[in-house]
Formats: sequence, structure tokens, C-alpha cells
Amino acid sequence: MDKSLSEAMEKLKREVGSELSARDKLENPPVVVLSGQSVQTRKLLLDREMVIRHFPFSIGRRRTIPMISRMEPEILIEDVPPFRISRKHVTLRRDELGIWLMDEKSAKGTVLDGKRLKASEAVLVEPGAHELILGGYTSPYAFSLRVVEDVVAGLTRDEKISLEGKDVSVSLLYLHLYDFTRKLLKVFFQDTSASVAMAQDMTDYIMKNDFCIDALYYYSAAPTIADDLIAHHSLNVFLYTLRLSSMVGIPVETRRALAVAALYHDLGMYDVPAEVVGKRDTLNEKEFEIIKSHSVTGWKRTSHLAKENPLIPAVAYEHHERIDGSGYPRSIKDLSPYVELVAMVDFFEAITHYRPQRGPITPHEGVRKILNMKEAIFRIENLKTFIKGFSLYPVYSVVRLNTGEVGQVVDVHPDQPLRPVVRLHFDSFGEALKETREVDLASNPNLYVRQDISDRVFIDRYFPLPLG
Ligand SMILES: [Fe+2]
Ligand SMILES: [Fe+2]
Repeated sequence: MDKSLSEAMEKLKREVGSELSARDKLENPPVVVLSGQSVQTRKLLLDREMVIRHFPFSIGRRRTIPMISRMEPEILIEDVPPFRISRKHVTLRRDELGIWLMDEKSAKGTVLDGKRLKASEAVLVEPGAHELILGGYTSPYAFSLRVVEDVVAGLTRDEKISLEGKDVSVSLLYLHLYDFTRKLLKVFFQDTSASVAMAQDMTDYIMKNDFCIDALYYYSAAPTIADDLIAHHSLNVFLYTLRLSSMVGIPVETRRALAVAALYHDLGMYDVPAEVVGKRDTLNEKEFEIIKSHSVTGWKRTSHLAKENPLIPAVAYEHHERIDGSGYPRSIKDLSPYVELVAMVDFFEAITHYRPQRGPITPHEGVRKILNMKEAIFRIENLKTFIKGFSLYPVYSVVRLNTGEVGQVVDVHPDQPLRPVVRLHFDSFGEALKETREVDLASNPNLYVRQDISDRVFIDRYFPLPLG
């Protein structure tokens, strides 16, 4: 890596990374600390019903020594020897089957609604009111819990947008775009110019209604599975390209050409046998070589379009090249910055969505992954735009603050990616605030995001995309 680039990369990592590591090393302050073990405590706890809407949710004993871990329980209890509460006593989790309460191998046991749980036993918990006692029947730590299934009231990503005078839901618009992308990619193999005309129409339509790109991006961030993986991925890369290119001031015509090229970037994947594309197991070397051939095939299939839109073959050919020369097929280092923009969002889209061989990571983890690479595989200017566009906590993600309050990111500061503006919806007891309020973390140094809770199960359950 050349020196100035590596210095710039280091600086960028420092800017983002130092705050990250400082935060990771900090003792995570407890969300709620309950102290005392008298009868009064028991009454106090039972009197105040705790509403639990966010999972996983744990309760445990407060440590005397600061703990370096991100797994600190949400509710910490000040307990004195002989301890009745284990360090991590119980956890409430949600998965495909429902909400579970699990005893975390506690020393003194757990009682739920009068029934004793064995160490490590997990039981399904119906939404509604429950009585939970930590540490056996006589323990003072008895809680009234209300487990609420509907965690996202008011937080849904499927908003309504007004499109040419009509109210349209983003999910429906996305579904139409997906269908259209699938069609135009299929048509390419019979009638190239008809397909390109379709791609241009779609691009013009979205550019004309630029305001819907953000909503579509947030919607597409949900890692859903589509029947045509290639079309689904191509549509997302197209949307991400449009989103990012609007931030760097690319001339309108180039932006249009680049977005069209993004739609075709993986055209060559249709030549890869379906059993390789859809293989559930790790790909072997030979299969990986077959996958890699898609850049060359895509370029060959689109090269005759060079006169009309040189970015189409260029993007198809070079979107897996990297500036450190680690890419393919030619391992070139000097790819055009426009192509690199697509390469970057392509990489990001892929790691944050399902593939038959693996699950997705969250956008937050995706940005971290790109920044933590040993060698910069993308130009620093592009990485900056990328952080600006995709942020560590993208708008619409749901986060828990160090105070325990939960809210939704409504705005980001490009220069302070870890300090978004959050609209708070729930207090630290999990109760819905009567009135939501906004806090700007950039001007509140004592507050920070403790956890991104827009996790996979959460997204799958609440943002399903009925494709196919
Ligand atoms: Fe590709
Ligand atoms: Fe791709």
C-alpha cells in the first residue's frame, strides 16, 4: 500500500476505530441497578411491572470489579454474599419459535410463575404478565414482568411514501422494482437493447423520485431471501449505488449510467450453473473459480454496449478488482473511482445479506469489517463517502443507549458515525414513552449507543419481504 494511502487509512481507522475500541474497553454501565435484598425490595420490584420488549434481555448480579465485556446484563442487581443472584442469571431470548426464558446455569435457581426451572432450563414464555423470582422461592428478587411481543410499534421500516400523488408502501414499491429487475435481466439474453431501455426507464423513474431512495435503501437493508438471488442482489447494488453516488456529486448523466451499469454488474452470474450459485456448503476451489469467471463472462456479454454506456462492461469486468491488487480477474490496482464505488457497495451488500453458504452480518458489522481490513481495498475518499452513506448505525436502525433507553436512529453525522441522532421510544424499563423525544448524541457526550438491536431475528420477523 502506498504510504500516503496507508496513513490516510490509519487516520480514518483512528477516527472511527478509536472511539469504537474506547467504547469496547469501557465498563458498560448498567442499565438499571437494583440494590438491597429486603422485603421492601421485593415489594418494590413486584409493584413496578417491567415491560420487556427487546431481546435478548438478561438479569444478573452487579460485579464488584469492572467487566470488559459487551455481554453485561440489562438489569444488574446489587447483591451481597451469600449471593442469591448469579452474575448472569436469566436471559430472555427470541427466536423463530417464540420468546424463551433461560436460566443461565444459576447457582440458586429461577422460579417462573411458581414453577422452578432447573439450571440451564429454557421455557417458552407467552406474551403477557409473569412473575419471576431469581434465587429460589424465598429470594427477595421477585419481578413482575410483562413480555411484549410487539416490539416495533412505531419503529417499522415499511413506511408509506407519496409517489406521484399516491400513497405507496415502500415494501410494495420494492417488490415491483424487484420484479422489474428480474425481468430486465432475463430479457437481456433475448433482446439486449430492450433490456437496456428497461434499465434506463427504471433508473430515470427512481432518479426522478430521488426522495424514495433512502426509504428503499433502509427497506432493502433487511436481509431477506429472494427466489432470484442475482436479481435481488443487483437491485440492491443499484439502489446503494444511486444512494452513494448522490453524495459525491457525480454528474447526473454519469450517475444514471453508473446505476444502469450496477444493474448488470453480475449479469455473468447467470452463466454460472445454478447448483454452484445455490450451493449450501462452502465452495471448493474449483467452484470458486467458476464463480470468479462471472466478471469475464459479464464483460463479454456486455462489451458491445461500450459505445452506448462504457460503464456497463467496465463495471461487469472490474467490480471484483481491489486497489491493493487482491481482486480478480486481472488483479489491476487502477480501477476507475466510479467502478470502485459499485465494487464497494457490491461487497457491502453481499456481506450484509443471506447467501446460500452463510448468513448475513448487520450493516454495522459490515462497515466495521471493511474498515478493519489489513490492507485498504478501496480508496480513502470512497471509504469516507461509504461511511457517510452507510454509517455504523444507519438511519432506521434500532439501538439501545447506555442508559437503557431504546430508540431509532433518525439522523447521522457523517463526521461522527458513532454519534447519531436517536428518537427515543422506550425508557430503561422497556416502557413506551408517552411522548417520543430526540437526543443528538453528538451534543450529549455522556450518552452512547450500547447495542444495535436491529438483529437478524428481529429484522426477519418484523420486516419480512414476501418475494417470489
Ligand atoms: Fe460479482
Ligand atoms: Fe455482485
